[in-house]
Amino acid sequence: MVIRSVNLETVCGITSKIPDNPFNEVAFAGKSNVGKSSMINALLNRKSLARTSAQPGKTQTINFYNVNDAMYLVDLPGYGYAKTSSSEKEKWGKMIENYLHTSKKLQAVFLLIDIRHDPSANDKMMYDWMVYQGFTPIIIATKLDKIKRSQIQKNVKAIREGLKVKPGTVIIPFSSETKQGRDELWEVIDSFVLP
Ligand code: GTP
Ligand code: MG
Repeated sequence: MVIRSVNLETVCGITSKIPDNPFNEVAFAGKSNVGKSSMINALLNRKSLARTSAQPGKTQTINFYNVNDAMYLVDLPGYGYAKTSSSEKEKWGKMIENYLHTSKKLQAVFLLIDIRHDPSANDKMMYDWMVYQGFTPIIIATKLDKIKRSQIQKNVKAIREGLKVKPGTVIIPFSSETKQGRDELWEVIDSFVLP
């Protein structure tokens, strides 16, 4: 994918209306701090277009990045951040749910899981819920640079088994630091959004 233009076009808070976008969308979900915003920057070759932070809970809105006036990458707020009050958590959950229900252009959802760790109960809940909503989530195993090459297969298997993914589910190991997995991820995104 040649990136000609990128633009954070819409930011949706809890009370905002989901935009009726003219181009196809793909969305990225995952727990707080898993690396969603960093991955969007890596995909778009931008250092800090999507705001990232070592502190979890950075992205609290649904952010729509227009790419080449041809598609949107959608950064969803992270879940599972312990310091968030339960009423906030509920609001974000509703916001994500509302988006998945409302968007007419959403073609695929990606679930990000830290390649170093087994999926959490929240990850499993999110995965099952996406499946329930009729999606077949694609898994992105993030922070690939943090493990040894020899661990990759074992950890990917642990994610596959921990989430009990549907047979044939794609799991893409990815690093925002080294950009490993970037080409494969773009191929998958393109296959969903391009006409
Ligand atoms: P929220 O917005 O809070 O939901 O988090 P997020 O999922 O958007 O995570 P973010 O991209 O802000 O990254 C969280 C932290 O992980 C930051 O300190 C990043 O630098 C770091 N990080 C993200 N991706 C990678 C990666 O591939 N490798 C390494 N080593 N660190 C990463
Ligand atoms: Mg973020």
